[in-house]
Amino acid sequence: MTQVSTNEATSPLLQLRDVDTYYGAVQVHFGIRLAVNPGEIVCLLGGNASGKSTTMKVILGLVKPRRGQVTFDGHELTTIATSQIVRLGIGSVPEARRIFPRMTVRENLLMGAYHRTDQAEVLRDYEYILGLFPRLRERLHQRGGVLSGGEQQMLAFGRALMGRPKLICMDEPTMGLAPAVVDLVLEHIQQINRTGTTVFMVEQNANLALQIAHRGYVLQNGRIVLEGKASDMLASHAIQEAYLGAGITD
Ligand SMILES: Nc1ncnc2c1ncn2[C@@H]1O[C@H](COP(=O)(O)OP(=O)(O)O)[C@@H](O)[C@H]1O
Ligand SMILES: [Mg+2]
Repeated sequence: MTQVSTNEATSPLLQLRDVDTYYGAVQVHFGIRLAVNPGEIVCLLGGNASGKSTTMKVILGLVKPRRGQVTFDGHELTTIATSQIVRLGIGSVPEARRIFPRMTVRENLLMGAYHRTDQAEVLRDYEYILGLFPRLRERLHQRGGVLSGGEQQMLAFGRALMGRPKLICMDEPTMGLAPAVVDLVLEHIQQINRTGTTVFMVEQNANLALQIAHRGYVLQNGRIVLEGKASDMLASHAIQEAYLGAGITD
């Protein structure tokens, strides 16, 4: 009798295969391979300028790789536009949050659903998200730009969730936040994941990300040099010293 492992039985929601990305003549990705299975939190770790944000831009179609495949939920993403990628079910929380500072909290949230036509469901999601982030409800009519860093991060999560994504991609969600706020943001990421959204998260702070992720990948100079279960990566002294040491962790 053949045994089929869970991994083989589940096909990845997102998969990058042999991705090479360039900015002009400069190559920044060298044969990137990674997969995110449905229901997982996967983190992509690496130091400054290793190519993490570019990976997120490739997934969102903002930068097109020169070689390789990016597949999501059975669709090839490298040949389609960002607007179509969003419609397929990928939400994003960009670097430095990038909420709309002059729009109110309410307007920011509704912008996240701009591509949806199911208005009744949009309103249900809106109420659900305000339940998830009570601080946003208290500030509905304030401009995004006056919120604290932590509140802007919640707004960025809320706006991404308004698109009802299958996969949410986050670029350094804890960057620049006070330690107490970082803990809250990590809890929110876990909560978002528990309610059925798959998470792909780019982080420079490896030890923080590995605390909530199921699996991790380490990117160095545009190459994946390590992948594994988050708990194994956290527990291994050799891995910590070789890949997750000074410069990556705080
Ligand atoms: N728009 C761009 N044009 C040219 N080079 C870029 C551009 N964006 C990023 N780079 C370069 O690509 C490399 C990877 O950048 P990035 O993906 O932002 O890394 P990370 O997010 O890991 O810090 C860096 O050397 C960076 O300077
Ligand atoms: Mg970056």
